[in-house]
Amino acid sequence: MSTFTHTIVTDPLGNPFKLPFFMTQAVIDGILREFTVRDDDVFITTYPRSGTTWMQQIVHLLTCRGIQGDEHLEVVIPYLERAAAFNGLAPFEQIKTRRFFKTHLPFTFQLYRRNPAAKFIYVARNPKDCAVSLYYFMGNNYRIAYQGTWEDFVTLFISGGLIYGKWSEHVSQWWRQSRTSTNILFLKYEDLHRDPAGIAAKVACFLGVDMGPELLTAILPMTTFDQMAQSPKTNLSWAAWRADADSRPLRKGRVGDWQNHFTAEQNQRMEVMCRQLSAEFGLEFDFE
Ligand code: A3P
Repeated sequence: MSTFTHTIVTDPLGNPFKLPFFMTQAVIDGILREFTVRDDDVFITTYPRSGTTWMQQIVHLLTCRGIQGDEHLEVVIPYLERAAAFNGLAPFEQIKTRRFFKTHLPFTFQLYRRNPAAKFIYVARNPKDCAVSLYYFMGNNYRIAYQGTWEDFVTLFISGGLIYGKWSEHVSQWWRQSRTSTNILFLKYEDLHRDPAGIAAKVACFLGVDMGPELLTAILPMTTFDQMAQSPKTNLSWAAWRADADSRPLRKGRVGDWQNHFTAEQNQRMEVMCRQLSAEFGLEFDFE
């Protein structure tokens, strides 16, 4: 039997979700009740391990004219529900400039509905690579400490038994809303790999940042996997990670690593899920 540390929290519709252990119902209810979403707020929204940090770095550099600064990314773009759990909401009220947040909250937690004028950048990653990345994350993060087999993990991923609920619902709910909302920019991790300059330009345009060729030339080298993995400002070294050389949060940063992990049968189950997403919502992913 597999285990990992978590809480169980319900969304406003009463659906239960497993969340990282420090996110209690009171913390989440506090966000939903008391957190004022401003018109110019920006939320980088993802299912975990989908390229959140990468997008944080792009947004940070775009909006700070290419200057990394002294703080690491979790300080400049805080993880909303984690920061709320540890520091409360008051520090966010003090911010006088445009605010940027990272969140993994599913659509049904209704952050979006609190102020649809705010902007949401949603990054989705193909579920096979996302599952592999999450498997290492949940196993190597000593506070979450997933213990169990990869086979069980795949089953939990598909059925929604891991943190932040069912991947297919998380992604499809934000995707559907993005079809009719100009304030949600829906992006894919695989497109970031294929065309980082094009995606950075899209993000700049979405945020109203005037990105000339100089800014683009300056920031792109600072958003590569190698550069981000070696910098303590971007490599998630602040996470509660197992301290050994084999495990690190910026692990491989590739499209297609799933091929080193999935059996034919596991792949088949993922394919069924992906065909459903494609048929129901027209949502498709690249896998290599
Ligand atoms: P892997 O575990 O496959 O390496 P998140 O930031 O949402 O937690 O996502 C983490 C995943 O994004 C990790 O995937 C990490 O390596 C990858 N990633 C982070 N920065 C990246 C970059 N600049 N280029 C490519 N992948 C990146």
